Amino acid sequence: MKKKFFITTPIYYVNSTPHIGHAATTTVADIIARYYRQKGNDVFFLTGTDEHGLKIAQAAQKAKKDPQTFCDQVSEKFKVAWKKLNISYDFFIRTTDPRHEKVVKEFLERIHQRGDIYKGKYEGLYCIECEKFLTEKELVNGHCPYHPKSKVIHQSEENYFFRLSKYAPQLISLIENPQTNYIFPEGKRKEILAKLKEGIEDVSISREKVKWGIPLPWDKKHTVYVWVDALINYYSATRFVKGKKDFWPANLHLIGKEILWFHTVIWQAMLLSAGLPLPQKIFAHSFYTIDGEKMSKSLGNVIYPEEMVEKFGADGARYLIATSFPYRDDADTGWERMKEKYNADLANNLGNLISRVAKIGERLSLTNPRGERRFWPEMEAKVENLNLPAALDWLWQTKITACNLVLNQQKPWEKPKAEARKIIAEIIVQIQNISFNLAPFLPETSKKIDHIFAPGKKLTAPQKVLFPRLK
Ligand code: MSP
Repeated sequence: MKKKFFITTPIYYVNSTPHIGHAATTTVADIIARYYRQKGNDVFFLTGTDEHGLKIAQAAQKAKKDPQTFCDQVSEKFKVAWKKLNISYDFFIRTTDPRHEKVVKEFLERIHQRGDIYKGKYEGLYCIECEKFLTEKELVNGHCPYHPKSKVIHQSEENYFFRLSKYAPQLISLIENPQTNYIFPEGKRKEILAKLKEGIEDVSISREKVKWGIPLPWDKKHTVYVWVDALINYYSATRFVKGKKDFWPANLHLIGKEILWFHTVIWQAMLLSAGLPLPQKIFAHSFYTIDGEKMSKSLGNVIYPEEMVEKFGADGARYLIATSFPYRDDADTGWERMKEKYNADLANNLGNLISRVAKIGERLSLTNPRGERRFWPEMEAKVENLNLPAALDWLWQTKITACNLVLNQQKPWEKPKAEARKIIAEIIVQIQNISFNLAPFLPETSKKIDHIFAPGKKLTAPQKVLFPRLK
């Protein structure tokens, strides 16, 4: 029996088109998914779009489209972007899919019957951009900390509430116990623990005035709060996608830091209430800044994945994302530094190694050796901790650069043929394993390298370079 591995990305709002932030989470999830597949696991990789709620309804209205048509069109743009980046998701979920809506209703019925839902009045602040209720304390200069340019609105309506506070003690003890803790990295675990200990309030889970949403099964005048609807996607996909029932609970929810509370507290409490097992791990990464500034449309510095693929190719874009991935702290990126990194690591270091070795080997009429292929334990440790920048850095420093050094120092072109062949054959064995380790990151490149250095095949140098140098 293959081991199961269920990995998810956030489902993205369709009010905006995919940018490098969305692409980072999705690409990293793809690398992890490919890695576990390559290790022989049975992987279910889920991504998709979040399509209900006030923000989407307003965006559709602004675009003068009915909400469903609008969602169909923008959701498609995410699929197109993921195709360009070679994202190997197994299923793309959309929250307007009736099969998802059905599971949402069943889920809510379950926690309703548990006695965890009651009617009350919500009076307070709301950020439409976040689709989130805010407290006075959370405001920065009167604005949402994540959306300083948008207005926080005042809400007053009848809502149904979920007894979130009831689950706080249980969540605290789960998170405090290293055996059952599910929040990573450590800094994020501490942050949530401290917040939970401050004391938490119940949360509103329905909206009376928002029409674009799933009707509450026991009171059709209300729709389900978009975040509750969205979180359930992770579970609903395992209910209605064929053959995926056994994949719940998820092994890894990969998310950005701004949606940590929803995933580590609200979602977990909902699952506890519904009597369902909890996901093993929730990993929150940090954010990209662009040349030292916050990425925003108004600053005009948004980087789109399609542009990256156009410039650097799919693997180039994937490499640049993985090496700059804001694994723990915010990380800076920008066109100029991406180009430098591409030229240094891909065009020069890796690209040169492959073309030099292939050319020398061809001249020596070499037949490719049969090396063993496996993940280096150093790679495994870093990838499994999601530290992809460290994993690639290690591969480049200790393997790729090292092979180039061996070439430079041993100068096989100055050696007698037999000796030169031995040197090159040894490097090829290394390259074959480099390619194996690179495959989850740079699938197309790895395939090309495998083709050139296929064991037992007579070596012929490729006509084209792997990564053309950029000016
Ligand atoms: N729809 C919700 C998520 C629901 S999940 C049940 C949502 N969508 S979103 O479109 O706003 O996407 C948020 C996610 O995009 C972040 O959690 C993160 O994964 C990614 N990023 C958005 N901006 C980012 C950066 N500047 N940098 C890195 N990732 C960022 O929230």
